[in-house]
Parts: sequence; structure tokens; C-alpha cells
Amino acid sequence: MSVRRLNPDQPSGFAFSQANLDWAYATIAKYPAGKQASAVIPLLWRAQQQEAWLTKPAIEHVAGMLDMAYVRVLEVATFYTQFQLSPVGKVAHVQVCGTTPCQLRGSEKLLSLCRTRIAPRAHELSADSKFSWEEVECLGACVNAPMVMIDKDTYEDLTEVSFGALIDGFERGTPPKPGPQIARVLSAPVGGQTTLKDAKLYDGSNVGTWRTAFDERERVKAEKAAAVAAAAAPKA
Ligand code: FES
Repeated sequence: MSVRRLNPDQPSGFAFSQANLDWAYATIAKYPAGKQASAVIPLLWRAQQQEAWLTKPAIEHVAGMLDMAYVRVLEVATFYTQFQLSPVGKVAHVQVCGTTPCQLRGSEKLLSLCRTRIAPRAHELSADSKFSWEEVECLGACVNAPMVMIDKDTYEDLTEVSFGALIDGFERGTPPKPGPQIARVLSAPVGGQTTLKDAKLYDGSNVGTWRTAFDERERVKAEKAAAVAAAAAPKA
């Protein structure tokens, strides 16, 4: 992953819109007095949503609102790859996970497609300024690798073909539903459930059997405890 630095070209200032300002004050008020720094991530995220990327003036503005040193807020902004430190595509900024599980499952092909369909290099805008991309580290959906994140949503179990269709969908304004892009339910096994399939586990008919086994285990435990206590008791 590349070093995350602020873009050299920055706007001259930043201010929250009135609606976002009201939201920001309401968010800060959720935290106890003196702990307003806890609102740093939500405020940075709202600033990014407003401007499409996170500018230096926005980081300074948030630091001022939260009475934090600028460098502390900069640390947060540069640590999390969810914060975009340069302008991004107007339609979508695609973050491709390149960490081992995703790499083993084909993320290199997704990155190649980014280079040919979006722009040759990460953080460059596509010719129509609609898309941009970057490679990031694990985004926590390894079980459905390979995956990409766009805004706050993840798209998983991708192939070159389904990833191409995903970009097409965003371009048309009809992005696919987030989550697995195959017939998998959430992170359940591909092809369906493989364990805990006995219907009796769920219809209550096993309760009697379970209860009998439990009672028997408890009886044996009590017998053993009584035998130990009797052996330890002083002889008359
Ligand atoms: S390795 Fe790609 S989501 Fe974890």
C-alpha cells in the first residue's frame, strides 16, 4: 500500500453546510464533556461526504471544532483508507483488497481490470472523471474474497466478469446489491449449509432427548461428587 499523504492541491477553505453543522453539533453532544474527540471519525466522514474527498481545510476545521491538535486529526485521516485524501471519481472510487486471501482468490485480475477500465495508476481519475481506484489492505470480508469496497459498501465473491458488470452497473446508475455477487447467502458456504442441517435441531423435538442426556450427566456428576466427599470424610 502506498504512503498516504494529503493532496498537494488543496481548496482555500472548508465549512460544513448548515444541515451538516447541525448534525455535527448533535453528534458531538452524544459524548460526555471533555470527550468530544470521540466524534472525530463521524465528523471527518461527514466532511468527506460533503466534499467527496477529505481536504486539509476540512481536517483543520474538524480539529478546531473538537479542540484537538491538527496532527491528531491528521493521524486519523491518514490511517484509515476509508478517508480519501485526493479527489476521487464522481461516480465511484473502487478500493480493491489486495491482501493475501483476496490475492489468492484473484484480486490481481480485479486490479488489472481497474488499470484497463479506469486508469493506469491508482488515485488517477478515469478519462471521464467518473471513476478512480486504489489497492487497500484487508477490509474484513476475507471469507468472501476477492472483494472491493465502494463508499461504505462491499461487493464480494467477484470475478473479472462480475467486477466488470459491477462497474457497468455504477456507470448506468444501477449498481448491484452489495454483498456476495454469487448465489451465496452472506458468508454461508457456497452451495448452501453444510452443518447443523438436522431439522430436529430447530423444531423442538430434540429437547426431550437433550434434557434426558443433560439430567443423566448431572446425576453422574452428583454421584461422583458424593463419592469424593464420602471418601474425604473423617472415619468414625
Ligand atoms: S483479505 Fe481481502 S477482505 Fe480480508
